[in-house]
Amino acid sequence: MTVSLEQLRRCHIAVDLGAARTRVFVKGTGLAVDEPSAAAVNTRTGALIAVGALAERMTGRTPDYIRVVRPVTGGTVVDIEMAQRMLRHLLGDKLRRQLRRKPRLRAAVSTPHDSDPLAQRAAIETLLGLGARRVELVDTLIAAAVGCGLPVEQPTASMIIVCGAATTQVAVLSLGSIVTAQRVPVGGNAIDHAVIQHLRHHHELMLPSQSVRPLQLALRGTGLTADGPSRTEIHGRDVATGVARSVIVDTAAVRDAIYTPLTSVIDGIGKVLRDCPPDLVADLADSGIMLVGGSALLPGLDQMLHEATGMPVVIAERPDVCTVLGMGAMLDGRIRPMVLDPLADAQGA
Ligand SMILES: Nc1ncnc2c1ncn2[C@@H]1O[C@H](COP(=O)(O)OP(=O)(O)OP(=O)(O)O)[C@@H](O)[C@H]1O
Ligand SMILES: [Mg+2]
Repeated sequence: MTVSLEQLRRCHIAVDLGAARTRVFVKGTGLAVDEPSAAAVNTRTGALIAVGALAERMTGRTPDYIRVVRPVTGGTVVDIEMAQRMLRHLLGDKLRRQLRRKPRLRAAVSTPHDSDPLAQRAAIETLLGLGARRVELVDTLIAAAVGCGLPVEQPTASMIIVCGAATTQVAVLSLGSIVTAQRVPVGGNAIDHAVIQHLRHHHELMLPSQSVRPLQLALRGTGLTADGPSRTEIHGRDVATGVARSVIVDTAAVRDAIYTPLTSVIDGIGKVLRDCPPDLVADLADSGIMLVGGSALLPGLDQMLHEATGMPVVIAERPDVCTVLGMGAMLDGRIRPMVLDPLADAQGA
């Protein structure tokens, strides 16, 4: 699915449409957009009221006639028209004018490794609607591996885990290609959901959707690890009476709740390793696992994966933007094309 570097070098913008965040890299400008993939719509008139961070802040706080929608779920654009309107607003007038000046605008968009033709078509249509004449699809795993500086073009194995909001993708790469990969439908959203359910069942406390992140921040430093305070105070609403109240929560129990969805990620790693040729698995014991994606920032996730697999685990420098920066590096021509047939090359010289 991944296009040649030559084609990518001709692109003007690269877009990563994620379930949680939308990121756009513009050639010559750099990372131009990094905003939540959300739009607030007036359901009476159909008008767009807000996009990005402002729309996300409105979630759960809107009157009846305003709805916050998310046009991307699980790595797939489910509402093409809304995704186009959202992208147009996120780009802003200045960038849109700048792009309109390009008579043959070319765009690159990342799609999950095993995305089906329908999902690929939806991503392409979204960008065609933005004025692109040609759209190239880039495999998220390759883009992320390039973005975090893995030696993808070398004949050694690298394992990458892209921890997104809706999905987690695990892959082993060697010689610039994906050797084996798995997509697990578990990500940051499932972890948030696990925390919400835990508080509902064990403390009869309802959390406003926005405060799950503060909870994770309260667990910061402890996260999934056993150090740090054993209890933390959480504010919410009583499930039965609806009255605001706060409870003291045992952080170890929250850790257990978070651990449950993560077991399927460990399963996914196991499957990838089983499908991987033994020589490459031997490489992985040294090189370890590279974690990218926003959920890689979940405190303690690296340690948990290290304990589960016994392999060294490293978090990328800027895990959340690796995918789009990887595409950016390919657009800028900072990645040298791989010479897959060096012998023929030498003869030609
Ligand atoms: N500091 C943090 N601690 C824990 N989780 C975090 C942190 N920062 C971001 N996240 C989580 O990362 C997720 C967003 O990651 P990312 O931006 O990679 O997703 P995405 O690319 O939009 O999603 P996908 O790739 O699944 O379509 C959210 O679910 C969010 O909860
Ligand atoms: Mg993503």
